[in-house]
Amino acid sequence: MARDAALYVCQTCGAVQAKWAGQCPACGAWNTLVEEVSAPRPPGALAPSKATRGRQGLAFETLDVETPTPPRLVTGVAEFDRVCGGGVVPGSVLLVAGDPGVGKSTLLLQVTSHASLRGVKTAYVSGEEAIEQVRARAQRMGLAEAPLLLAAETSLREVIDGLKRERFELVVIDSLQTMWSDQMEAAPGSVTQVRAAAGELVRLAKKTKAAVILVGHVTKDGQIAGPRVVEHMVDAVLSFEGERGYPFRILRGTKNRFGATDEIGVFEMGDQGLREVANPSALFLNESGSRAAGAAVFAGIEGSRPVLVEFQALVAPSAYGTPRRAVVGWDNGRLAMVLAVLEARCGLCLGDRDVYLNVAGGMRITEPAADLAAAAALASSALDQPLPQDCVVFGEISLSGDVRTVGRAESRLKEAAKLGFSSALAPRSAEEAGVMRVFGASRLSEAMSRIERADWS
Ligand code: TYD
Ligand code: MG
Repeated sequence: MARDAALYVCQTCGAVQAKWAGQCPACGAWNTLVEEVSAPRPPGALAPSKATRGRQGLAFETLDVETPTPPRLVTGVAEFDRVCGGGVVPGSVLLVAGDPGVGKSTLLLQVTSHASLRGVKTAYVSGEEAIEQVRARAQRMGLAEAPLLLAAETSLREVIDGLKRERFELVVIDSLQTMWSDQMEAAPGSVTQVRAAAGELVRLAKKTKAAVILVGHVTKDGQIAGPRVVEHMVDAVLSFEGERGYPFRILRGTKNRFGATDEIGVFEMGDQGLREVANPSALFLNESGSRAAGAAVFAGIEGSRPVLVEFQALVAPSAYGTPRRAVVGWDNGRLAMVLAVLEARCGLCLGDRDVYLNVAGGMRITEPAADLAAAAALASSALDQPLPQDCVVFGEISLSGDVRTVGRAESRLKEAAKLGFSSALAPRSAEEAGVMRVFGASRLSEAMSRIERADWS
């Protein structure tokens, strides 16, 4: 039999090329095309499915049929359940993606142990660690009693057969990159293998009605096939993030067919695994309580929850020709925009000074409502005027220098009031909320001159 034509698959974007090239024509990445030979389909693979066999072909249905909402499988790790939309849906497939070492295995060992303690029939399949290692970790985390079933296996065929036999309700595959199918010649971890493994496991979930959680490593240089190529195959994608050097870990829903996507779960990594953090605001605020010039507390919303975080800015004379701009936890482009608006609309020139901006606690903020908090922190540092102790800040800034209304002002203010804050620098419209004293501003220049004059009466 003639050898199958070789195909070259980009390990970053998954594009398939007929010829090798140094640069992927699809995504422009260098040195990512790898030869992958796909094996011939096993006989019968293209036979009609059971559902269509014996019928006249594709059957159509209408919308107005009562469909019961899918029951949720509650794992008992509340932060995880919330990000999933109130528990995992049986028969669905979830991808938990994150950098190596961020704590994915720890999180899922905890999730599966708690689920099994609640009576859910659960399996944890590790392709990376030996059973002893997983067991030792569970013991250290105080979960030795959980009736969880462990397996260490990398052969996809063995895993699928085993899982079909036992009929689990919840299954974790740690990790997708270690699973390999002997029907493919491609190397383990390659795009072809990862895609094949994900496809098989999705079919298994649909068939056995088990909820399947796949672990996927994301690498910055794209050397190992990233889980990006399977994102469209799964029902939900949760990314697990954390800044190096901080104990906080954030689980963020980036895709969810069964719930909201902007929800976050907050955890703290300790000696005994991950601890759920039910009230993140208290955690991200500076404990000492005294706020120096350059600090502004942002009243943000993450998913369904209000979260308060401190923005810290330092504006200093620059020792070099090109001033430095360094940002942690916020967007570089957004900082450039706020600096430009401060200069053009408020006459606050920071062009020749070093600017450092930091979101405390290792949190990453993406909400546009944080603009005003960043601007307030920058102005406070540049003018050496601290904001009042008890003041929170939020509002979006437009290029014209307007402070724009943002959503859920009342929830932001209520959360701030709960944590002892009693005033806010915010868009004018927030004055109507009536929760606390609001220094409303419709122009950025108004807010900045208030900081400059320290006019908080
Ligand atoms: P792990 O879950 O193995 O990461 P991943 O599966 O995402 O690669 O977690 C790795 C890190 O977590 C490791 O550096 C040690 C740390 N850790 C703790 O700090 N405390 C603990 O109780 C556990 C289990 C891990
Ligand atoms: Mg791991």
